[in-house]
Amino acid sequence: MKKLLLIPALALTVFLFLQATSKEANETTIVSVEFDNEIPAHVKAVIDQKCYGCHNAESKNEKGKKKLDWDDFESSRKAKQLATMAKINETLVEGEMPPAKFLESKPEGKLSPEELQTLLDWSSGKKRAPKQ
Ligand code: HEC
Repeated sequence: MKKLLLIPALALTVFLFLQATSKEANETTIVSVEFDNEIPAHVKAVIDQKCYGCHNAESKNEKGKKKLDWDDFESSRKAKQLATMAKINETLVEGEMPPAKFLESKPEGKLSPEELQTLLDWSSGKKRAPKQ
């Protein structure tokens, strides 16, 4: 019986606590949430050359656009960006992008080892400065 009373008592305590703190919370203005996940220029350069063509808001490659839209990336929430980066990393490690079929007709679209490294570093969250 005593245990049963404990629950409403706890609930009341929480309620009173929230009442007391909510006034304070209401007075706090949330200014903005800043993300520092702008894509660095040296990474962007690789993406523009090797990935952007199929993965942008206007892309005619419907499948590619649906899976990844670079135009949407920087304005996405951080959690979404991190999930996208993880997916990109996985795709690159597996050697799945750019698609092999596409490279058959456009071998120059292949990532050079340096470009691949740049994208791998970035997508795994490393913030290394580019090698000059
Ligand atoms: C020739 C067009 C083309 C190019 C170039 C290209 N992609 Fe893709 N990408 C696609 C298509 C099509 C899909 C969808 C594949 C599928 O669903 O089977 C895709 C899917 C993806 C996915 C999602 C994979 C998944 O399983 O969710 C990622 C991540 C990705 N691409 C990254 C890249 C990166 C990084 C580059 C540049 C290195 C790149 N792509 C270049 C066409 C392209």
